[in-house]
Amino acid sequence: MSFTFSSDIWGDFDDQTKDGIAPYLFEGVLPLSDGFAGFREVEKAFFSLFDEQRRAETDCRARIYVGEDRRDDLVEELYAQTPRNAGGLVEFMQEYTGAPRFSLVLNNLEQASARLAADFSDFAQSFFSARGFPIGGTEQAVFCGNYSGTAFGVHEGFEHALLCHLGPGVKNFYCWSREAYLSIADGREPTFSNAPAFDRLFDNAELFVLKPGDVLYLPAAVYHIGRQNEYSVSVALPLYTYPYTRFVSRAVLPALCDLSLPFDQEGMSPFLPLNGKNPFAAPITDLLHSTCDQWFTRELPRFLSYYWNRLRSNGGWDLPQRLAADMFADCNNAPAFDLSPGQSVRLLKPYAPIVEPDLDCAATQTRVFLAARSVVADAQDVDVERICGQLGRHEPVAAATHAEIAFLQELSRTGALERI
Ligand SMILES: [Fe+2]
Repeated sequence: MSFTFSSDIWGDFDDQTKDGIAPYLFEGVLPLSDGFAGFREVEKAFFSLFDEQRRAETDCRARIYVGEDRRDDLVEELYAQTPRNAGGLVEFMQEYTGAPRFSLVLNNLEQASARLAADFSDFAQSFFSARGFPIGGTEQAVFCGNYSGTAFGVHEGFEHALLCHLGPGVKNFYCWSREAYLSIADGREPTFSNAPAFDRLFDNAELFVLKPGDVLYLPAAVYHIGRQNEYSVSVALPLYTYPYTRFVSRAVLPALCDLSLPFDQEGMSPFLPLNGKNPFAAPITDLLHSTCDQWFTRELPRFLSYYWNRLRSNGGWDLPQRLAADMFADCNNAPAFDLSPGQSVRLLKPYAPIVEPDLDCAATQTRVFLAARSVVADAQDVDVERICGQLGRHEPVAAATHAEIAFLQELSRTGALERI
């Protein structure tokens, strides 16, 4: 199913959020009654992780809290349990933890459920279209439980987020500006329920009552805690707008160094003379100069192109670790389709095809990014732009010629197409 979100949702965003720095509740924006993935879909995705093979293919990580205690010991044994999903997640977790109230946090759950990935991508893309795209994309950080207060106490958020509430219960969400928090709490650290300031904080909180289908825009640097009496599930979409400096130091430079300055097991540098001025300043400076020249003319634009296109082609979700390990890899591991003339294919949600003609391919070829992967296609006898445009609009594409069959077969190796 496909969901269309009106750009009107975000039309007054600047006023409502005081230019992005104040929390704001967008009420009833998730079409749960029209089939948008709800809390049962989250539970299904969680139980699917009990399959070891499936778990190994994802970056999904679980944290379990009983009260405010983080219980990593329970995570270690979690997937050795029998899922027992007949009674739902609450019954399973109560039995497993031996506690009536629990909290289960799951990261990157979009990788465990095609439906969660597709539906929440439709919603996130409406925000991106209106507001722009975060450099690191987003993920699904899911909070399930019947906890009386978020296990991390009252704490500060480090990135802007859209907190999508799926119910079934209602959640009271309390927020404080940094100034308001620091005027009551003891510094910037979290305040837990046993701290003297805990109760006093609530006298000065801004309360948002989250009903199923509501989305809270929660800006970075806002202190917050969720509290509830009944079980509910929320999907947080953190918007990874981290600084360019972090992106360069954590992502760009390591990749460029791997390309241009490989660790050399066999090579040698000369013994350096001890007389005269510093003997290795000149050769090291020369090496770095020539390396940087090569980075600026070739490798940096190449890296940035791969990164941006892979991220955008993945429906807004951050790159899975197994695909991000080598930014220049094609990563196609799905078997190619058998296609006969006239047979049609369609794009799977949430992916988007992106055509990039001049990237590591011959003049007669083009590179197409899809699902964080890429293929090189012969563009001589195929109108790649037209076909990718149709796929991007989720129209069926019929393979008419041998060249088109070959192109769609190659593209099917990304795992993002279905035969119809
Ligand atoms: Fe938080």
